[in-house]
Amino acid sequence: MSEHFDVHGGARLVGEVEVVGAKNSVLKLMAAALLAEGTTTITNCPQILDVPLMADVLRSVGCDVVLDGDTTHITTPSELSHRADSPAMGKLRASVCVLGPLVGRLKKAVVALPGGDAIGSRPLDMHQNGLRKLGATSNIEHGCVVAEADGLHGAQIWLDFPSVGATENILMAAVLAEGTTVIDNAAREPEIADICTMLNEMGARIEGAGTSTLTVHGVDRLHPTQHRVIGDRIVGATWAFAAAMTRGDLTVTGVNPHHLDLVLEKLRLAGAEVTTYDDKGFRIVQDGRPQSVDFVTLPYPGFATDLQPFAVALSSVSEGTSMITENVYEARFRFIEEMVRLGADARTDGHHAVVRGVERLSSAPVWASDIRAGAGLVLAGLCADGVTEVWDVFHIDRGYPHFLENLNRLGARIDRVATEPDRS
Ligand code: UD1
Repeated sequence: MSEHFDVHGGARLVGEVEVVGAKNSVLKLMAAALLAEGTTTITNCPQILDVPLMADVLRSVGCDVVLDGDTTHITTPSELSHRADSPAMGKLRASVCVLGPLVGRLKKAVVALPGGDAIGSRPLDMHQNGLRKLGATSNIEHGCVVAEADGLHGAQIWLDFPSVGATENILMAAVLAEGTTVIDNAAREPEIADICTMLNEMGARIEGAGTSTLTVHGVDRLHPTQHRVIGDRIVGATWAFAAAMTRGDLTVTGVNPHHLDLVLEKLRLAGAEVTTYDDKGFRIVQDGRPQSVDFVTLPYPGFATDLQPFAVALSSVSEGTSMITENVYEARFRFIEEMVRLGADARTDGHHAVVRGVERLSSAPVWASDIRAGAGLVLAGLCADGVTEVWDVFHIDRGYPHFLENLNRLGARIDRVATEPDRS
């Protein structure tokens, strides 16, 4: 039985919504708990499908994991298995982040290649090259990364591209290496800074958190800690786009607006009035039709590739023409095919898309291809005439806690329906 959402068009979203912990932080923090024997507690965890999946990954290497509402307790034993090849590995991308901690702690790991969103080619060469620089061998064998080292030593590592996952894996191996590691051209995403904060709380010695040069002075051992996950800036931005698209008025709490500086600036250019509240949240009010704005995706602090579907969806109903350039994941433009079903006037040429805004979208059945595309289609459905069926909504459940409930509370009308789609 598959589920879809019936999204009734014509909503204006008004009210307050709280954002909880970031998916792309909590899953890596859970992996970091492997580095210390004992019980690590993580709070402000989002209740999304990927958290229990990551818990299964950790259980498969010997941890005891208790999910208690928004709190996760991970008890890591002294003897861990180096084999992370359970079926859960293939269900999410973040599962690959057990590689660095296992190599750091055990000096060997067999880690099944991860799954996750189908948004384009997602190689692991930078993860592997980084581990090799630290003194490990690393090969792909029978669908797994196999890494082994006699001992890890500090190294100078230059990343070709500021990859989020490679930075995290190298960091989590380097904290237990002998000597000092410098990761240059490191990813600067707030979620990386969050991991650095937690690792330092566990006794690691990392300098440069949030910058493109991370200096890691290796230590002998780490100890467990209690850590609160930062608010999810991608979910916060989703609400910001939702307000702009529905000409609404939303107050969004639980997220640091400075993690969204560029996003909020783009929405100001589109005509929204934005007020920020220190590091606690923001209010966004959109009167009238949004104006077209151009977007270019880049690693942080650039405009996040995860937000590209929302940029396309907003542009589809804006006044004027927008150019959207995708520099990180080429397959993300698949979303545009679904938007065209809804009446968007959009076309792609290589990694550019041109979107001419239309007054109103028109409802149709559409299919979510990944988490953000799914949420983007729901927002588009709110701006379409009639009832838009959004299929494959399990993607949305992987990343957005209580998405539908929040939308309905804020003025949308969306029903979750369990039936088989008619593709005839
Ligand atoms: C993370 C996020 C994802 C987000 C992405 C970019 C998680 C679970 N997922 O994914 O939501 O869209 O960051 O912000 O945190 N690359 C290589 N070789 C490598 C590693 C990456 O070529 O070894 C390339 C990728 O193909 C991609 C780019 O680098 O083009 C960025 O990838 P990366 O930052 O590693 O993304 P993820 O960590 O997989």
